[in-house]
Amino acid sequence: MKKLVLFASGAGSNADAIIRYFKENAFAEVAAVFTNKPEAGVVQKARGYGIPVVIATKSDLENGNVLAHVNQFKPDLIVLAGFLLKFPTDIINAYPNKVINIHPALLPKYGGKGMYGINVHRAILENRDIETGISIHYVNEHYDEGGIIFQERVGVSDCDSPEQIAARVQKLEHEHFPLIIAQLLK
Ligand code: GAR
Repeated sequence: MKKLVLFASGAGSNADAIIRYFKENAFAEVAAVFTNKPEAGVVQKARGYGIPVVIATKSDLENGNVLAHVNQFKPDLIVLAGFLLKFPTDIINAYPNKVINIHPALLPKYGGKGMYGINVHRAILENRDIETGISIHYVNEHYDEGGIIFQERVGVSDCDSPEQIAARVQKLEHEHFPLIIAQLLK
């Protein structure tokens, strides 16, 4: 059985899609969900499935206190699913090409510090972009700059709110992220 460790800071809709996918395709399982936000929606979601939740604060991450906890779960892949803090270099180095992230835009556009969640969709709307999409990529020590694994586009020229764009992008995320993870595990 292959094992996944997720890192998430938000509502957890991607975590939910991944957990459900691997309940049905049981060659892998989500072994743990790490979060920096005990009050985040993802915590209740994971606990609802009986998946252990590990709280890793910003200072735990910065001080190298998280790697040993990750190692306990022996992950084949580490997946950032809406994780909004800088990911520790010691974990990246211990798991080369085994840490991936999803970004709600077509990188290298709309990447970098401050570009997360609804901020990205607001920028797309302000710039009147006619399309956006998702990027799944390897994580390196720079925000949103690791090698691209997969991208998918969606038209947004008829959208007039960031929430409307977010809904289209999240639909793509939930559809593709579990499948790409499954391919990487095989
Ligand atoms: C997702 O849209 C993900 O792409 C984004 O946060 C959202 C989390 O939603 N990640 C980033 O912006 C990373 N820079 P969720 O908690 O419902 O999965």
